[in-house]
Amino acid sequence: MHSPSTAPNPRLSANLLGKTAIVTGSSRGIGAGIALELGRRGATVIITHTSEGSKSAAQSVVDTIEHTQSGGKGLPVQANITTAADRQTLIDTAVKCGPTGQIDIMVHNAADGEDSSLANVTEGFFDKLVDVNLKAPLFLTQAALPHMPRGGRIVLITSAAARMGVAQTSVYAATKAGLEAFARVWATELGQAHGITVNCVSPGPIATEQFHNSAPDFKDAMQPMIQATPAEARLGEVDDIVPLVSFLCSEESRWMIGSVLSGTGGMLLF
Ligand SMILES: NC(=O)c1ccc[n+]([C@@H]2O[C@H](COP(=O)([O-])OP(=O)(O)OC[C@H]3O[C@@H](n4cnc5c(N)ncnc54)[C@H](OP(=O)(O)O)[C@@H]3O)[C@@H](O)[C@H]2O)c1
Repeated sequence: MHSPSTAPNPRLSANLLGKTAIVTGSSRGIGAGIALELGRRGATVIITHTSEGSKSAAQSVVDTIEHTQSGGKGLPVQANITTAADRQTLIDTAVKCGPTGQIDIMVHNAADGEDSSLANVTEGFFDKLVDVNLKAPLFLTQAALPHMPRGGRIVLITSAAARMGVAQTSVYAATKAGLEAFARVWATELGQAHGITVNCVSPGPIATEQFHNSAPDFKDAMQPMIQATPAEARLGEVDDIVPLVSFLCSEESRWMIGSVLSGTGGMLLF
């Protein structure tokens, strides 16, 4: 399993110094990697998790950011993004603790990746995934907008599952396809009017707990595709995805809006 590297990368500039970022679900997995990188680039990062058990993991992301001495900071917040009050806590913390009182970067990463065959989907299961994966990013964005300046960045972490038609992913894949739709609609609503870019990063299978905890038949179905991945015959790593997100959070990505960056090693070529 991937554990984010702690060594500072000398090639990176502190190009996010003075910016404030919220990264949902950043106690572990891809979100922790993204939070570490934004912090290493100088941002103040709100590190979010929902479970009590992830408190120490979130704190260790904070400690690692502050250890890099890049000027970046981390603030851990335990919040369930499916509740309006917790979403407001994230916004209030970012506004109060960031250097400018603004929210420059919003990365929607937290998700529920549970699988179910069509026959076994219940209304409760459907609502649970839609609440975390689709409803929460929309309402968190809505709450953040009054605090986002021109030059703001929104990144939605989607999934190759949105387009691949892998068995057991009806609800998950539909929520991720929905996020791609958000990016296109919000590009139109927030681009010229607000100066904010909105883009997606779409990972293929990545070595995190979400992937390792998937149903065995889902992982079996993925194995031939992983072996046939054009870039290399392996599972993706958190560090394969993080640079795509940090690019979309930077000034250099200003001409990208409404796009989906593929982090699949080319898996979707087939
Ligand atoms: N791993 C893959 O193969 C893969 C492939 C394609 C796309 N993705 C996408 O990449 C993103 C990250 O995946 P991952 O594998 O890194 O996930 P992960 O290891 O399962 O971590 C999920 C994170 O989301 C948080 N979270 C879950 N429900 C939440 C809620 N209701 N409120 C707030 N936070 C919540 C978790 O907090 P706690 O630690 O407190 O539980 C944790 O920090 C997801 O959007 C996922 O769909 C992953």
